[in-house]
Amino acid sequence: MNLLIINGPNLNLLGVREPGIYGNKGFEDYLQELRSVYQDVTIEYLQSNHEGEIVDAIHRYGFGEADGIVLNAGAYTHTSLAIPDAISAVRTPVVEVHISNVFRREEFRHHSFLSPVCVGSIVGFGLESYRLAIESFRIRK
Ligand code: DQA
Repeated sequence: MNLLIINGPNLNLLGVREPGIYGNKGFEDYLQELRSVYQDVTIEYLQSNHEGEIVDAIHRYGFGEADGIVLNAGAYTHTSLAIPDAISAVRTPVVEVHISNVFRREEFRHHSFLSPVCVGSIVGFGLESYRLAIESFRIRK
């Protein structure tokens, strides 16, 4: 199984950024752990601070290049129309992920433009939200 993890804006600063909310671990370290746990899964990774690059990646992987996409669109979750349009346009299923429990935070984080076009959403389990998303693809298979 081939999966693509996409991290959106500011998620390059995991481990540094607001550790009380997002934890102390950088994503590259966590990714290594994921790859060693799921040796039967090819996990590709892309981080971008730019909405259009995220759209491009969904197009690139969305027609068979990946069996699934795990997407943490960061703040674009709450603002973007182009990203959900891209998800609707492709065939590859997308699971929405958030590290923090967005529903316990500011009200503007309670609405996601992505949730209606994703297979499901995993929210609030720290970095393990990504692992749960991978598990969801293994269950679907
Ligand atoms: C986030 C939640 C978003 O509201 C926020 O803008 C982020 C990270 C999360 O993973 O908890 O950048 O997607």
